[in-house]
Amino acid sequence: MSNQVESVKALIQLREKARLGGGQKRIDAQHQKGKYTARERIAMLLDGGSFEEFDMFVTHRCTNFGMEKDVVLGDGVVTGYGTIEGRLVYVFAQDFTVFGGSLSESFAMKICKIMDQAVKVGAPVIGINDSGGARIQEGVNALAGYAEIFQRNILASGVIPQISAIFGPCAGGAVYSPALTDFNIMTKGTSYMFLTGPKVVKTVTGEDVTQEQLGGASVHATKSGVAHFAVDSEEDGLQLIRRLLSYLPQNNLEEAPIAPCEDPIDRLEDALNDIIPDSPNKPYDMYEVIGGVVDNGEFLEVHKDFAANIIVGFARFNGTAVGIVANQPKVLAGCLDNNASRKAARFVRFCDAFNIPLVTLVDVPGFLPGTQQEYGGIILHGAKLLYAYGEATVPKVTVTLRKSYGGAYCVMSSKHLRGDINYAWPTAEIAVMGPSGAIEVLYGKEMATVPDPVKFAEEKEKDYRQAFANPYNAARYGYIDDVIEPRNTRFRVIRALQQLSTKKLANPPKKHDNLPL
Ligand code: HXC
Repeated sequence: MSNQVESVKALIQLREKARLGGGQKRIDAQHQKGKYTARERIAMLLDGGSFEEFDMFVTHRCTNFGMEKDVVLGDGVVTGYGTIEGRLVYVFAQDFTVFGGSLSESFAMKICKIMDQAVKVGAPVIGINDSGGARIQEGVNALAGYAEIFQRNILASGVIPQISAIFGPCAGGAVYSPALTDFNIMTKGTSYMFLTGPKVVKTVTGEDVTQEQLGGASVHATKSGVAHFAVDSEEDGLQLIRRLLSYLPQNNLEEAPIAPCEDPIDRLEDALNDIIPDSPNKPYDMYEVIGGVVDNGEFLEVHKDFAANIIVGFARFNGTAVGIVANQPKVLAGCLDNNASRKAARFVRFCDAFNIPLVTLVDVPGFLPGTQQEYGGIILHGAKLLYAYGEATVPKVTVTLRKSYGGAYCVMSSKHLRGDINYAWPTAEIAVMGPSGAIEVLYGKEMATVPDPVKFAEEKEKDYRQAFANPYNAARYGYIDDVIEPRNTRFRVIRALQQLSTKKLANPPKKHDNLPL
């Protein structure tokens, strides 16, 4: 056998060794926990055979605690690039079979390398997290490694899409890399994220809490909003990433791909002409409106179980990807509260950063009143959404279906925040406040003196409704561009988006903004 043939054989053997990560025993243990290995996850995520791995031969350089005797090729993270539906993506997957996926200096440098490359070429980064955190034996070098990654997350933010999947532990400062990325996907039952684990919590606060209660997928998808998606399995999570990317451009200088559309653009959705209940206090389901107007009824909802009084997600109109923001009258009457404001603000800013037009469906009675909201900072959180819409320069199409009262009118992509096309259904009510509140303020004292206050209030409400609870008053001033037939909404939105496709608008140059945090 020639030297060259020998060396090729040795290379193949080394590769095989590297692919085994922490060894078969640990791979089996990973499978027993219902989890896949880093390489299996990457294979499921990417187009078949498209993965090119980097740094398979990188090892750690630690000599503390006898670590020089425990060296694993690749050092616990698999990195490289491949394609999803033929489009380039960079990926890293932490390998729990190697030192529990814990992060060393070399491990961090591998991740930094692909992040740098992704920014240079303008392609998304997908990170699959499954790690015991900072590698204890490495001390400050592990912390430095995390901070190097954070720095890159920050610089890449708004330049390339960054998506995190959490398929195992993600604890301590390690949580901040996913938190800095655009979307977090967590598997139910097998993943958790928290700054300090149950033992520390018990010591510091005396609270008894399990890992799941503290930072499981359901907690972060419903209570904290840290997770944008909670999925039943890793397969579902990886498929979701593929689907999500189909709505996104490769970077902030490109536009999302146009999908072929067979759904007729002028499809009339007759049910929408009869969806608004007679009683203004009766809800209807905003999902029916979204499903009725977008291409093929397909909607990829983000933050589905968090602040359900506002709905955000991706859909298409005639193949063009858009971000949908819609009040949900079925939950808290669709009012804006702290969480709804934060949720929608982040989504609007994501869409604006990545040239994704915004379609806003409005039915909002106002901001949620009360001490809980005020103490929680509704002034600041509401301002975030206001800010996000006001700074957004992407095409903005707004349709007001029913209520649009007070400050919430201004916030929800109004004409005054540079809404490009603002339509209203004939059922729209655009005013400073709802009829009963307005009558109370305007005639409260007088009502106390009349013989039949109920009749008096009814009459005044009728007058108010006639004067304000309609779209024509706003349309009279040009704040509403047209009052449209509900069943024709799809066509009108598509025409508006077509018209706006060459929109150019820039904000004044600045170092950065000062969003009310
Ligand atoms: C080194 C680690 C490790 C770590 C796990 N391992 N975490 N090695 N550094 N941080 C090793 C274990 O020794 C073990 O090695 C293997 O990985 C698998 O771990 P197990 O404990 O056997 O697995 P499991 O029972 O599933 O428990 C997983 C775990 C637990 C819950 C993650 O390992 C754990 O609590 N690890 C420590 C978590 C932690 O406190 N990390 C620091 C967080 S602070 P063998 O050889 O037996 O297979 C932090 C700061 C970041 O990360 C700051 C950034 C700014």
